[in-house]
Amino acid sequence: MASIRLAVFASGNGSNFSALYEAYQSGKLSAEMVCLICDQREALVIERAKKVGLPYYIVERFSNEAKSTYESRLLKILRAEQVDYLVLAGFMRILGTTLLTAYPQKIINIHPSLLPKYPGKQAIRDAYEDQAREIGVTLHLVDQGIDTGPIIYQEKLECLPGDSLFDLEEKIHALEHRIFPRELEAWLKGASLSS
Ligand code: GRF
Repeated sequence: MASIRLAVFASGNGSNFSALYEAYQSGKLSAEMVCLICDQREALVIERAKKVGLPYYIVERFSNEAKSTYESRLLKILRAEQVDYLVLAGFMRILGTTLLTAYPQKIINIHPSLLPKYPGKQAIRDAYEDQAREIGVTLHLVDQGIDTGPIIYQEKLECLPGDSLFDLEEKIHALEHRIFPRELEAWLKGASLSS
């Protein structure tokens, strides 16, 4: 059976991209990582893709460009690369109907909170300012909302008294890097069996 083809979407640092890529390289991810899609020209994740030799596409959204037009441009690339599933690893855009319809139940996102708590861009900061006693990471399917799709996996972390925002960020990212490849692999296996 041909292997599942993945595109990773990211906008920034790309530490999760690297965690996924390392898992892929060491045989822990049976799907094929086909390319990186990045919407920010200056993002560090592009350097990471270059370093490992993975094809990457920088697709910025033009000012005044409709979301559907932007996503049609993305779709063209995804079709050319014969991508089966989309993996959002710090992609800072809300997806619209064009991509959601083209990839129904086939887009996964990682979010640094125990959803439905703290959705949005500043989840770790929000939890810190809220003095949350528990934080964590969620993997979920993507729908049209902001971090609202069906939850696939969650793991908790304890916040210790005296933890700084930086401490929480470090803990969360370490947890993300540990669970993302593993749970992505498990989800893809389940998804391909049921399709
Ligand atoms: C991660 O915390 C992820 O959960 C969120 O964006 C962050 C991306 O970090 N969606 P990085 O770019 O992978 O380092």
